[in-house]
Amino acid sequence: MAKLYRCEICGDAYVGFSPPPNCPFCGAHDEHIKEAGKAEVNFDVELTAKDRANAERALGVEISNAAFYMCAAAQTDDPEGKILFKALGKIEAEHASIWKKILKLETVPTGGDSCHTQNVANLKESHDRETRAINFYRNAAAEADHPRIRQIFEALVDIETDHLHLSEERLK
Ligand SMILES: [Fe+2]
Ligand SMILES: [Fe+2]
Ligand SMILES: [Zn+2]
Repeated sequence: MAKLYRCEICGDAYVGFSPPPNCPFCGAHDEHIKEAGKAEVNFDVELTAKDRANAERALGVEISNAAFYMCAAAQTDDPEGKILFKALGKIEAEHASIWKKILKLETVPTGGDSCHTQNVANLKESHDRETRAINFYRNAAAEADHPRIRQIFEALVDIETDHLHLSEERLK
């Protein structure tokens, strides 16, 4: 029988026979997915100046990476690459929306990042972008004042590491 599950990182719900191993929306790992009635999802966080600055910077990173991936999905010269970059673009857009909720913004601004036609160039840029994101999120988690901000940054480190492995596999 189908059940309703909910991701504690992005707050989105999933209907299925069993909990998904990763959130289909933000990519959070299974430890963050609960039966909907038991999930604790909080976007109403009192932000210190440091947490706010890191949340704003993270929003910028996610907007920029979402725009890059959507560009790459349209322009890369490899059929599987198009599918990969579209999937990653949707996930990064979901990450931007997490920070939008934390920062209580009305909308998410659109990024204008460009990309390449050569698939290998897009994979390399993906690798660089994910590496930078992981390093920043790891530091932001370590210095977070609020436990919810730390939880989100720690989950994002795991998710972006999954993305890093996708480009690493293809660049071998
Ligand atoms: Fe992301
Ligand atoms: Fe990513
Ligand atoms: Zn999620």
